[in-house]
Amino acid sequence: MNPIKHVAIIMDGNGRWGIKKKKSRNYGHKAGLKTVEKIIKISLKKKIPYLTLFAFSTENWKRPQEEINFLLKLLENFLKNKLEDLVKQNIKLKIIGNRSKFPNNIKKIINYSEEKTKNSNRLQINLALNYGSKSEIVDTIKKLIKNKKNITQKVISHNLYTSNMPDPDILIRTGNTKRLSNFLLWQLAYSEIFFEKKLWPDFNENDYSLILNKFKNIKRNFGKI
Ligand code: FPP
Repeated sequence: MNPIKHVAIIMDGNGRWGIKKKKSRNYGHKAGLKTVEKIIKISLKKKIPYLTLFAFSTENWKRPQEEINFLLKLLENFLKNKLEDLVKQNIKLKIIGNRSKFPNNIKKIINYSEEKTKNSNRLQINLALNYGSKSEIVDTIKKLIKNKKNITQKVISHNLYTSNMPDPDILIRTGNTKRLSNFLLWQLAYSEIFFEKKLWPDFNENDYSLILNKFKNIKRNFGKI
């Protein structure tokens, strides 16, 4: 049985779900947040120590301003309303990505949330915000060169946003699309990938548990036989 230390998720399909329900794309994002809460609950129950969620990519700035504003408001309200609960549940929140592009109110609340949860150690949630994997790798290598460090795989791994975390065992992408979308390209080198047809708001506890159980029985070789 493989232990599960880290699950990463590309939560795709909110917009399509909203339209399918004859409502708006934003209606889908709101429903997507409900799924996030369910998945956090199961991750706690299954004692998974790291959960990384792709919430906003570097490419998402190209969306209509109204949708961007809605997503940022959703994030702000989530952190405002749930922070106390996260602390109570011993959950640590870490933002991965370039936060410099966010408006001040968002920067403030994400910094505050990280600070408030920094001593938690039951589950670490990495929220990927304005995250792009190629930029992460380039920025890391630039930093290493500037500090005259040796460029090795180990040194690169230890200097990515995910330093000091195990690489994801599992990547889940919902929404019936099979691509990585510039997400954790370095860290996913040996992950098991599960592409799920359901749109993110329809993904439920049972779907998640099925994937976790399937993973436990996979023979992982890491290149060996
Ligand atoms: C992709 O669906 C999803 C996003 C870009 C945003 C993900 C956000 C949430 C799940 C809710 C907010 C979460 C937090 C933690 C505050 P899409 O819009 O690309 O869907 P589509 O492929 O149907 O267009």
